[in-house]
Formats: sequence, structure tokens, C-alpha cells
Amino acid sequence: MKTEIIRISGEDPDIEALKYCGSVIREGGLVAFPTETVYGLGANAFNDAAVRSIFTAKNRPADNPLIVHISDYGMLQGVAAFNNEEEQRRLMALGEVYWPGPLTMIVGKDEQIPPAVSCGLQTVGIRMPVHPVALALIRESGVPIAAPSANSSGRPSPTKFSHVYEDMNGKVDVIIDGGDARVGVESTVLDLVSQEPTVLRPGAVTKEDVMRVLGTCAAYDWKGLEGKVEKPRSPGMKYRHYAPVAETTVYAGSQAAVVARMQREIRSAAAKGLRVGVLATDETKKLYKEAQVVLSLGKMGDSLAHAERLFDCLRTFDTQDVQVVFAQAVSEDGVGDAVMNRLFRAAGGRIIDCIEEV
Ligand code: TXA
Ligand code: MG
Repeated sequence: MKTEIIRISGEDPDIEALKYCGSVIREGGLVAFPTETVYGLGANAFNDAAVRSIFTAKNRPADNPLIVHISDYGMLQGVAAFNNEEEQRRLMALGEVYWPGPLTMIVGKDEQIPPAVSCGLQTVGIRMPVHPVALALIRESGVPIAAPSANSSGRPSPTKFSHVYEDMNGKVDVIIDGGDARVGVESTVLDLVSQEPTVLRPGAVTKEDVMRVLGTCAAYDWKGLEGKVEKPRSPGMKYRHYAPVAETTVYAGSQAAVVARMQREIRSAAAKGLRVGVLATDETKKLYKEAQVVLSLGKMGDSLAHAERLFDCLRTFDTQDVQVVFAQAVSEDGVGDAVMNRLFRAAGGRIIDCIEEV
């Protein structure tokens, strides 16, 4: 398939180009488009065949449901069928504060949404993105857009046009080049169907943010028993995702302990002739001279910067052919929880607690 590349800037969106892309969606085609979180791969959410072709293009497992993107509340019609008034009240209350924005809410599904979108579930995840190109594309399509992240399944989500081009050129009708994603990690996925609202996937809208609006919120414990142990109980493939090709390990603890431990690991990997990648911070990146590729997530504690850079760093390790990656754990404050969640999964759950050496 020949993929059309169309540049549309968020500052001054080209309406004619957006109308064209909207018609491609409406007629059953696939359009990759920028959002504030990561790039999405969109299809008309009411078109079962179009939605199925997303799974083919991404090589996505058939049991992983897609998020439906809307541009206004009128589009909830035919998408959401709330199970009860409380569910609707919660969506409206959170929407007032966080929509448009990086929050996906899971509610009861209208029967007009084809099975391919929700993979047989009775629920649907809905998001109103704030990126001007995404919003305008949905509006011009005139239909809600079902869209997962625009990466090949298993690879880190795309935060730059070049990432989408790498994974999707030749597999989709159009890729919109809309510059870099601002947030950099995917939206918060919040289950509103359960008795207690529950964060299933952390993102820029935090559990505390939800609590401030709804008064209550739980979060799925993504670290479970796998984190913070020297030998993960199940180094489980089931956690590996967002993954660079290289085997990745995360090191947590005091900066001194982490740096000392990583320096040792680098030397021993180098002795085995391995090409080593290191994920550091601005403060520590100079301390890993023996590694071939050293990337920084930004200043220590700057979770917004870490979120913006993480996936690009993981993809860079791939292009630099590193065989093993050692990564420093970063702050879990705010969106940092989402950053550590993605890093944890890239590492297949392999997090090592470093003890101070005296
Ligand atoms: O920021 C984002 O959310 C990006 C942009 C494009 O909007 N999209 C994205 O989609 O990350 P995707 O497909 O890569 O991730 C969607 C997540 C998956 O973990 C999926 O299992 C979950 O949302 N999900 C979708 N619908 C669901 C449902 N009905 N119940 C439970 N989980 C659901
Ligand atoms: Mg994804």
C-alpha cells in the first residue's frame, strides 16, 4: 500500500488537508494522527472492517480493545450506553475538568460499536483528546475514531512522526506529520464501571487528580509482587511491552548506590563484549563513560520531561543496536508513576533494589 504523508501543524491546521483525512477515515481507511499523548492509528469506530484492519497493520493481539476518540459530548451518542446514572455522572464530572485531555474513561458500550473495537467486552474506553489536529480530524470525519497507539504491537508507542513512519509506512492510507507529542506517555485508563473508579493504566491524569473530583479512586497495583525483588518471580513475557530489543533492567535506590551498581554491571557486560545502553539523568549521564550509548531522560525529578522522552530513548537504543540496557529508576511523583510503569514493562518486570555499599 502506498502511504500518503501529510504535514499538518497544530498551530495553524490546514483545514482542507484535515477534510481530506477525515474523508479517508469516514470511508473506511486508516489514518495515523498526532495526539497530545502519543500518535494514534485511527479508523471509523462504527466500521467493523476498518477497525479490524488496524489490528492487521499493528499485528495487535485480537483480545486488546481500542479506545474510541470523540471531539464533543454529542459523539457519546451511539458509543456509550451508561449502566447507571452514577457512571454517567462520574464521566461528566471528570470530563468537565480533564476533557479534552489525556484521560480515557471506561463505561458501558452502545451496541452500535462493533465487536472489533471492544474485543467482545460490554464496555468501551472513550477519550476526547486535546491536540488540535486530533480534535479537528475527528470533527471533520464526522464519526468517532477508534485508535490504539500507532506503533507495531510490542514496540514503544510513537511520540514522533519518524517513529510512526518507521512502523506504519506502507501499512496505512495516511500518516499525518504533526510534530512531537507533548505528554509522551499514553492516556490514563480509568474504569468507571466498577463500584470504585479504578486506574487501570497510569498516565498524566493521576489517581489523586481523580480523587479530587470524585472523592474516591483505586489504582491497579502494577508493580504487584514483581517489582523491587532481586530475582523477579516471573520475569514474565506477559509484562514485556514498550520494549527495546535489548534486555533491559531497572535499578532503584539512592543515587550513589544505583550509580555504583550500574557502573559494575556496565563493566561486566563490556567484558562479555556486549554493546551497552544506559538510561540516565542529566546529573548522572557523565558517570557511565564505559557504556556505548548513554541517553538522559532529563533533569532528576522532572517527571514531565521523563514522560516526554522515554519512548524516544527506548527506540534510540534499538537504532543503535545495543544488546543490553541498564536504566535508572526515576521519581514516581505525578506522571512519574506512568513513566515507571512503562519502564517496568519495558524491562519485563526486572527492577533491582540497590543497597548502599560502604
Ligand atoms: O493516549 C492514548 O491512550 C493513545 C492515544 C492514541 O489516544 N492510545 C492508546 O491506545 O494508548 P492503546 O490501544 O495503545 O491502549 C489502550 C489501552 C489498552 O491497554 C487497552 O487494553 C485498554 O486501553 N482498554 C481499551 N478499552 C478497554 C476496555 N473497554 N476495558 C478495559 N481496558 C480497555
Ligand atoms: Mg499501545
